[in-house]
Amino acid sequence: MCGIVGAVAQRDVAPILLEGLRRLEYRGYDSAGMAVLGPDGALQRLRAVGKVRSLADRLAREPIAGTTGVAHTRWATHGAPTENNAHPHVSGERVVVVHNGIIENHAELRAELEAAGYAFTSDTDTEVIAHLVHRELSGGSGLLAAVTAAVAVLRGAYALGVVSVDEPGRLVAARSGSPLVVGAGIGEHFIASDVGALLPVTQRFAFLEEGDVVDLGRDGFRVYNDGAAVERPVRTTELTADAVERGEYRHYMLKEIFEQPAAVAETLEGRLVDDRLLEESFGTTAPDIFDGVRSVHIIACGTSFHAGQVARYWLEGLAGVPCHVEVASEFRYRRPVVPADALFVAISQSGETADTLAALREARTLGYRATLAICNVPESSLVREADLVLMTRAGPEIGVASTKAFTTQLVALMLLTLALGRRHALDATSAAHLVRELRELPGRIEEVLGLNDEIRAIAERFTDKHHALFLGRGAHYPVAMEGALKLKEISYIHAEAYPAGELKHGPLALVDADMPVVAVAPNNELLEKLRSNLQEVRARGGELIVFADEHTGIQSGPGVEVLPVAPVHDAISPIVFTVPLQLLAYHAAVFKGTDVDQPRNLAKAVTVE
Ligand code: AGP
Repeated sequence: MCGIVGAVAQRDVAPILLEGLRRLEYRGYDSAGMAVLGPDGALQRLRAVGKVRSLADRLAREPIAGTTGVAHTRWATHGAPTENNAHPHVSGERVVVVHNGIIENHAELRAELEAAGYAFTSDTDTEVIAHLVHRELSGGSGLLAAVTAAVAVLRGAYALGVVSVDEPGRLVAARSGSPLVVGAGIGEHFIASDVGALLPVTQRFAFLEEGDVVDLGRDGFRVYNDGAAVERPVRTTELTADAVERGEYRHYMLKEIFEQPAAVAETLEGRLVDDRLLEESFGTTAPDIFDGVRSVHIIACGTSFHAGQVARYWLEGLAGVPCHVEVASEFRYRRPVVPADALFVAISQSGETADTLAALREARTLGYRATLAICNVPESSLVREADLVLMTRAGPEIGVASTKAFTTQLVALMLLTLALGRRHALDATSAAHLVRELRELPGRIEEVLGLNDEIRAIAERFTDKHHALFLGRGAHYPVAMEGALKLKEISYIHAEAYPAGELKHGPLALVDADMPVVAVAPNNELLEKLRSNLQEVRARGGELIVFADEHTGIQSGPGVEVLPVAPVHDAISPIVFTVPLQLLAYHAAVFKGTDVDQPRNLAKAVTVE
C-alpha cells in the first residue's frame, strides 16, 4: 500500500524523505515521488515510475533541496502507475499533497472542482484533496484550517500530509482509516506511515487516532480532533534503525524465516510460569472474561486467516470450545449470528488491514463477550481498539510474504487454547504437557531450518513448473494452504491446497508428471489415510514431495522425495511443518528470479478494502 513520509526541519529533508521511502518499500508500490519547499519557498517536485532507486537516480541527476517536504510511494488504485498519477499532487503550484487510502466520493468532488475551474492532471482520487485545500487557502484560510475543512468533506480512508508554499516550515497531516505516526526530533518533526520509516532520525513517536489532524512545525506539533486540541503522548520505541536491516541475508524473507526460533521464544517470554500460562498476558481483565467464554469467532485475512484455521482444530479438538473462522472481508458484509458469550478474535500482523479492522469495529457493535487482537505491531489501530491484546512480538516483518508473523500467531493461538481449554476440556496434565512442548518449540524450528540446503535442491525443480498442489489433513490442511499461498505470492507459480481426502473429488484430474504435489505428513492418527491419498497421486504419475515425520516410515522412492522432519508433538507440529514450506517457496522464487520481498501487485499492509 502507499507509504507517506514528511518532514519539517532545519536541514535539507530530501535525503531523509528518500531514506524513509526506501524503508517503506516493503509495503508494496509502483511509483514514488517527493516534493520539497526550497530555501526561496519555491516548490520542487520529482516523481518516477517504478522503484525508489529510480527516484533516487533522478534526485542525483536533478537535485532538489529544502527544509520542508513530503514524499510518497504509490500503490495504484485509481489510475495506472504513471508519472502523472504518482504523488505528490499539487494544486496551483501552491499546495502539495501525499495520500494513502481511497477517497470514495472523489468523482463528485472532482465534478464540483472542475465546475469551479480546477484542471486535473491525473486520474487519481488524491488530486481532489490538493484542489480542495487550494480552494480553502484561496478563500483566506491558513493551512491548518484549509486541511481541516478539506478532510471534512472526504468520504473514505485517508492518511495524508500537506505542505504549502504560503507557509514554509509547516506540515499539516490527517488520519482517518489509514495509519500515520508523528516522529518527534529536536528542532524537527516528521510524519510517516510507520515508525520504521523514521528510525534513522528519531525513536520518539506519537500515534495519531481516527479523525486526528496534526499541525507540525520545527519546534513541536499540535493534534486536533473534532476541532478540539487533544493530547497524543510521545513514546520512545525500542526499535532501532538496524532492526529493519537485512544484514547478511539476501532477502528479508529469508532473514525472517531464520528469525523464527528467536521470535517464537520472544512470544513465549514471560507468559509461561512453570507449566502454567500467565493469563494476564492477554490483559488484566482476561481471566474474568475467559471465565464466561463459550465459543470463539476468529476473523483475519491471508496468512493470518490460515493461522485462525489451524487454531480452530486446537480450540475445538484440545480445548473443547466451538470455533468459527472467517475471512474478514466476508464477515464485515454479512449479518452474523453471534452466540451468547462468544469471544471475537482478530488476527493481524500489521494491525492495520482495512478489512480486519472494519470487522473488529463491526464486532464491537454485535454483542460479543469481548474482542481480542492477536497482533505484531504494538501501536496499531487493531491493538488500540480491542478489549484484550496478545502481542506476537515477532519484531518488524518486512518481506511481503508473512513468515515469522504466522508462526508467532500460532504460538499466541496455542496460548489462547490453553487459557480457554483449562475452563473446558483440557486437563491440567495435558495443559502442562503442551506448555513443555511450547518451550521446546524454538529448538524444533531450529532443527527444521537445518533442512535448508536439501529444500533448496528440491525447489530448483519448480523453476519450469506452472502449477503445484499442496496436501494436508487435519490441522495440517491450513498449513498446506499457507504453503500454497507462500509459493504463489512470491514465485507466481499457481498453487492450490486441498485436504488430502478431497483429492479424488476433483483435483486428482489435474495430477500428471508436470504437477508437483507437496504433502505434509505428521505422525498422527490420520497418517494411514494420508498414505492412501499419496498412493492415489503416485498411481497417476504425480511427482510427490513429502515433508514427513521421521517416525512415519514414509521413504523416498521413484517419484517420491521425502524430507524427514524430527518427531514433534502433534499439537505443535503445524507450527514446525510450516517452516519447510516457507523455505520451499522462498528458494523456488529465488530460482525463478522474482522480486521475493516485494512481489508484484502485492502490499505488506493492505490498508484499503
Ligand atoms: C501473507 O504472506 C500475505 N502477504 C497476506 O496474505 C497477509 O497475511 C494479509 O494481507 C493479512 O495481513 P495482516 O496479517 O497484516 O492483517
